[in-house]
Amino acid sequence: MAAADVARQMTEGARNLSLSGHVGFDSMPDQLVNKSVCQGFCFNILCVGETGLGKSTLMDTLFNTRFEGDPAAHNQPGVHIKSNSYELQESSVCLKLSIINSVGFGDQINKEESYKSIVEFIDTQFEAYLQEELKIKRTLHNYHDSRIHVCLYFIAPTGHSLKSLDLVTMKKLDSKVNIIPIIAKADSISKNELQKFKIKIMSELVSNGVQIYQFPTDDETVAEINGTMNAHLPFAVVGSTEEIKIGNKMMKARQYPWGTVQVENENHCDFVKLREMLIRVNMEDLREQTHARHYELYRRCKLEEMGFKDTDPDNKPFSLQETYEAKRNEFLGELQKKEEEMRQMFVMRVKEKESELKEAEKELHDKFDRLKKLHQDEKKKLEDKKKSLDDEINAFKQRKTAAELLQSQAQQSGSQQTLKREKERKNSGFL
Ligand code: GTP
Ligand code: MG
Repeated sequence: MAAADVARQMTEGARNLSLSGHVGFDSMPDQLVNKSVCQGFCFNILCVGETGLGKSTLMDTLFNTRFEGDPAAHNQPGVHIKSNSYELQESSVCLKLSIINSVGFGDQINKEESYKSIVEFIDTQFEAYLQEELKIKRTLHNYHDSRIHVCLYFIAPTGHSLKSLDLVTMKKLDSKVNIIPIIAKADSISKNELQKFKIKIMSELVSNGVQIYQFPTDDETVAEINGTMNAHLPFAVVGSTEEIKIGNKMMKARQYPWGTVQVENENHCDFVKLREMLIRVNMEDLREQTHARHYELYRRCKLEEMGFKDTDPDNKPFSLQETYEAKRNEFLGELQKKEEEMRQMFVMRVKEKESELKEAEKELHDKFDRLKKLHQDEKKKLEDKKKSLDDEINAFKQRKTAAELLQSQAQQSGSQQTLKREKERKNSGFL
């Protein structure tokens, strides 16, 4: 019998007993609270909205402090994510707050890719948590959870309809994060227009299938207030860190030549509603929804992508080990296939290279033979020429010898004649 069945049978078969005295396990909730207070809480807010919609001012107003220093540069080619973490304390409760800003959102001419870096950032935080969960030595109890618990989506107070950038971005984010849409700088829109604008936004969200965060109504202690607040969405907010004296109280407000907008006055804007819903009533639900709904979805898709399943095709439970072994075998099979393919490719390449080399060798031999023949022909021609030149030289030499002989003979006969004539002359002179 499976362990789950045994446990169910044990619970179903449990008898109710009444105690005869105090035992003390009624302090369990207090123990839990004490433990949580000791550990502290973390809450990560993502602010998405076009430049200058009052995101930083609203965060400062919400937490009654001054977070960011200089305004971000808006000349970047794309959207980039800037995360700042702070440690806050109220009474004895510590809160690690991270405010994540999508800097440059909506600044580009082509806004098609604007949502991508936001989605990537959310997924990266889920992935980091999943990796920690999959480790053998896990440290989840003191893990710095960077998953986004809420996305405050700032809508420009145009009074018309949502921009396609808003719809596309919210649609891409709604399965990954709790979205609370808010109308920014609500002091720039009239009361009548605001009501119509709110209705228009909600109907556009519904018709485009965008799921926004609904304040939970299943816990009866907050069901009523949450139910009422759901009807007020999207909250129309005004932010300001400037305090002015109204009556004898200092109030956060924005002053204009024509009057004053009080941030915390519910007749002026929904700031208090947002603060109540986001921080005082539903902060824990936002954290829980992030873990139980959005992270769970990411985890399921990721594990399924990796080949893990809960049941096999026959609907029988699939153990982790079986999945691991099936995956391992699949991997080894693929590896072997790849190895074989590579080996065949290698043999083919070697053969190709061999035939290329043979071809080159043959060409070289042919060239050598051609050159050799050419050389032999040249050599023969030269030898013939040499022979004919030798013959010519011999003939010349013979002719030269004959000429020299003739010349010496001629000289000899010439000198004999001269002697004869001299003798004759002498003889005649004596006479
Ligand atoms: P980036 O970080 O540059 O995208 O701007 P941001 O969205 O953080 O806006 P920021 O809070 O810097 O405010 C921009 C300007 O709007 C400032 O001059 C604020 O004083 C003004 N501002 C902020 N909140 C409101 C508001 O509720 N109403 C009006 N009218 N002005 C506001
Ligand atoms: Mg800012």
